[in-house]
Amino acid sequence: MTQTTTRVTRRGFIKLVYGLFGALGLGAFAAPALAYFWPAKLEEVPSEPVPVGPAGELKVGDSRTISYGRYPALVLNTPAGMRAYLAVCTHFACLVKYDGVKDEIVCPCHAGFFRSDDGSVISGPPPKALKPVPWFTKDDILYIGGEA
Ligand code: FES
Repeated sequence: MTQTTTRVTRRGFIKLVYGLFGALGLGAFAAPALAYFWPAKLEEVPSEPVPVGPAGELKVGDSRTISYGRYPALVLNTPAGMRAYLAVCTHFACLVKYDGVKDEIVCPCHAGFFRSDDGSVISGPPPKALKPVPWFTKDDILYIGGEA
């Protein structure tokens, strides 16, 4: 029985190290490109209700933007009552804000204006209304999404 040994030369070792660094460098460039083409699957809308805060905390004219799945949601207390919409403009997806003084939802990017009571377009380039989000209160907590 013969035993063979493999010796790694200095040149071979350096080639191996260069190869490893090359593979790591390639991976560092390839990973973001792959993530761009195959993004992580984010939940479009949460399957569970999302708490906003104590019911009654939002006074008429107040609003709050909260995280809601892939997109934030805008929860507002209008003179017509509580409303909630996805806070994403239907034009080019800028975040919209509630102007409680004028009782309008405003998109600052291209001067888009939406009605606060139903999310429909008042003026500007947005092609359609804001998407409404269901809301409810339970045990004095305001929730959006999900089922009551
Ligand atoms: S992105 Fe809102 S008006 Fe253009």
